[in-house]
Amino acid sequence: MQDLQAIKTVLEFYKALGIDRLPLSIPETGHPTPEEKAKALKALRQEIGDCKRCKLYKGRKNLVFGEGNPDASLMFIGEAPGREEDIQGRPFVGDAGRLLTRLIEKMGFKRQDVYIGNIIKCRPPMNRDPQDDEISTCMPFIKKQIMIISPKVIMSLGRISAQTLIGVKIPITRLRGKFYDYEGIPLMPTFHPAYLLRNPRDKMLVWSDAQQVLARLREEF
Ligand code: URA
Repeated sequence: MQDLQAIKTVLEFYKALGIDRLPLSIPETGHPTPEEKAKALKALRQEIGDCKRCKLYKGRKNLVFGEGNPDASLMFIGEAPGREEDIQGRPFVGDAGRLLTRLIEKMGFKRQDVYIGNIIKCRPPMNRDPQDDEISTCMPFIKKQIMIISPKVIMSLGRISAQTLIGVKIPITRLRGKFYDYEGIPLMPTFHPAYLLRNPRDKMLVWSDAQQVLARLREEF
């Protein structure tokens, strides 16, 4: 089953690169190299282009594609860009982002080691919750990013990200702290850093979720 999943991942990766026929040679390991992943992400960014697929383009300054190591073992997925992210075109660069960066560093990584993305790539007006049609329009792109990067573990940040990736409407207080399966990748939902800014006592719970993630990453090596 794992072999079939690996073949599926490789084929989907080539599809994301725009190759819809089997290439003559697949890399010997069967796994895309970091350079190929970087190229696939670049091709995906081009495919998204100056996106007008949903109404959020009307209010955005910049589309926030995501950033980090294309070959990351750990991927963080938030909800949608906020004010600062919209201005800079980069994910998690406001107050919540500074807290996320501290978590990443406490976990023993640098920000550049991991990959950071969002379910939605454009800022909703006044930071309102993304609507279902916006989520379903944007979702294929984060799905492709996950497929290309193929991280060992995903940490989802907040209710919207967890509910969207897991496909349930259960509150984040009940979802967090346990691993779920996202297309063969272990997914750990945790609280959103913006929530932690308002509820700093729950940082302890996020740290316990992060420790489970670190333990899982160690198992993978
Ligand atoms: N909140 C998110 O969910 N994502 C960002 O990029 C910034 C804030």
